[in-house]
Amino acid sequence: MIEEQRSQWGSKLGFILAASGSAIGLGNIWRFPYTTGENGGAAFVLVYLICVVVIGIPVLIAELSLGRHTQRNPVGAIKTIVPKGAWKILGYLGVITGIVILSYYSIVAGWTIGYIVKTFTHTTSDFGQFIADPKSEFGYFIVFLGLTMLVVLGGVKEGIERWSKILMPLLFLILLGLILFAITLPGAEAGIKFYLSPDFSKITGKTILAALGQAFFSLSLGMGAMITYGSYIPKNTNLITSATTVALSDTLIAIMAGLVIFPALFAAGMSPAQGPGLVFNVLPQIFSQMPAGTIVGVFFFILLAIAALTSSISLLEVGVAWAVDELKLTRTKATLALGFAAFIIGIPSAMSQGYSSFFSNLHLLGKTGFLDIVDFLFGSFALTFGGLILSIFIGWKWGSAKASDEIMYGLDKNYKPVLKIWSFLIRFVCPVVIFFVLLNIFEIF
Ligand code: PFF
Repeated sequence: MIEEQRSQWGSKLGFILAASGSAIGLGNIWRFPYTTGENGGAAFVLVYLICVVVIGIPVLIAELSLGRHTQRNPVGAIKTIVPKGAWKILGYLGVITGIVILSYYSIVAGWTIGYIVKTFTHTTSDFGQFIADPKSEFGYFIVFLGLTMLVVLGGVKEGIERWSKILMPLLFLILLGLILFAITLPGAEAGIKFYLSPDFSKITGKTILAALGQAFFSLSLGMGAMITYGSYIPKNTNLITSATTVALSDTLIAIMAGLVIFPALFAAGMSPAQGPGLVFNVLPQIFSQMPAGTIVGVFFFILLAIAALTSSISLLEVGVAWAVDELKLTRTKATLALGFAAFIIGIPSAMSQGYSSFFSNLHLLGKTGFLDIVDFLFGSFALTFGGLILSIFIGWKWGSAKASDEIMYGLDKNYKPVLKIWSFLIRFVCPVVIFFVLLNIFEIF
């Protein structure tokens, strides 16, 4: 079953950029600010940072090592280590989670494309009107999903790596410019305070669950995307420094996005707890007040759409790698079938933004609307649950000793103590902490 000619990333930097491309996306610029807004601000940010360091980075290293060791998709990777038994269900869960997240991720990414047009043409409709219009909602959704499928069809190296190379530096620069503008707006201090000065009384079980879920979502963990990307890494890549670089750049971009949104939000007197519409309501406000705001706005939404694309391809790639490796489908068939599935699953989410009152008002687990509910169940819960089982699988079943051998490959002895810490985190800290955090789900019921 050894697959010949499995493609690989073109270079170490190519891999880091592609993995950062997967991590950096709507999670940083759309989901992080609104989740921070809903969960009280700075205290949430602090818990989030702790989650990234203590849970996120160790799980990221674990996923990459399993991928590189087995050179397979998540289902195949688990089967390579344990050929029989129920562990492989974890791989299937990853494939399903990827497609379901892709279904609503493409809708939000479609809003971004819509906002390129809207900013350019100075359309005055507000966000609520924009998303309730089924023509634009479905049109942009289909365009974005189609783009994702096109890139995935192109294959790992050509498709995925090339896009990531130019994007990250540009996104960084434009965010920096926007921060400088936002923090100088009159009334911005209140936003900076909300975002950066923590009120610890706001930390509850629900906050911690939201922060951990956000860390998994933002770092593309818990569903095997990083196993899949790891399977294309050349042997001599340093997994520890790569994972740390990816996590740091991802976190930096999220923190920067907050520094744009919250000062501008408070300056405009808007509410931080307004849910998924947050950045789409605030950003146009910023652009309308800025000199050359139209150009900056159009450019920003283009970059955001590309950032979303380098993430959505990893959501689809997990399923495609599985279907190609395990079902022996061609890349084209796998991409078409799974892309179509994502479209069908996305229909109720697209209708849940005001067009269908049934899907818009559905209430479950403290969330309202089909898209929000699915985002909670798959974007937070399934990823975090996947992370729990993965850390048990890698720490105990495959075993941290064997995983450490894989991680140590080509590294010098100085890394030994780092690996000791990693083993401890992946075997004890990750499973125990994630387990207790997940218990909070039952509080929400
Ligand atoms: N990390 C991406 C983002 O922050 O936008 C979303 C994502 C991609 C989540 C891939 C999970 C995943 F496997």
